[in-house]
Amino acid sequence: MSQYQIAVIVGSLRKDSFNRKLATALAKLGPQDFSFKQLEIGDLPLYNQDEDANQADSVKRLKSELAASQGLLFVTPEYNRSMPGVLKNALDNASRPYGQNAWAGKPAGVIGTSIGAIGTALAQQHLRNVLAYLDVPTLAQPEAFIHAKEGLFDEAGNIGAGSKEFLQNWMDQYAAWVKKHA
Ligand code: FNR
Repeated sequence: MSQYQIAVIVGSLRKDSFNRKLATALAKLGPQDFSFKQLEIGDLPLYNQDEDANQADSVKRLKSELAASQGLLFVTPEYNRSMPGVLKNALDNASRPYGQNAWAGKPAGVIGTSIGAIGTALAQQHLRNVLAYLDVPTLAQPEAFIHAKEGLFDEAGNIGAGSKEFLQNWMDQYAAWVKKHA
């Protein structure tokens, strides 16, 4: 088993999501001692504080997967200049009950791609605010706002030549961050 298991949270449920493709391609740039697992967040209930003492199995599953991980990787689109509700819902569900925040202390990276010119910058900024409150040490630099355009991925789904060096450097910095804080 890899020394560093990374819980990957993709903020899109769309079948052909560019962000899911980005998450899959990024994992291939990770170091040998890292493994990446995309977690299911589409089956979580809408967060309801009344259920704190009786969390759904899907919430318990997410929380145990987070507990087993040494780091977090958020790969998210931007919806209406913020993070998608499905991602915020996952953050809320796994943050409770009070005092049992499953995100706390896990080193994280934030990245995303969108067809818009600002490449998820505002979604990432909102997400960073939430992660700060959840006590998640989040890589600050380099930032990565990826424009989803022709050539971002090659035929095999790997990062295309034009973005490879940039994203390899991002991954190297992310991996070093995880190793420092795990
Ligand atoms: C979008 N999109 C979008 N893009 C952007 O750059 N800024 C934005 O605020 C929004 N807002 C937005 C809202 C909603 C409801 C949708 C469905 C889409 C476009 C978005 O970048 C595009 O649909 C991406 O393809 C979404 O990412 P995935 O699903 O491909 O990972």
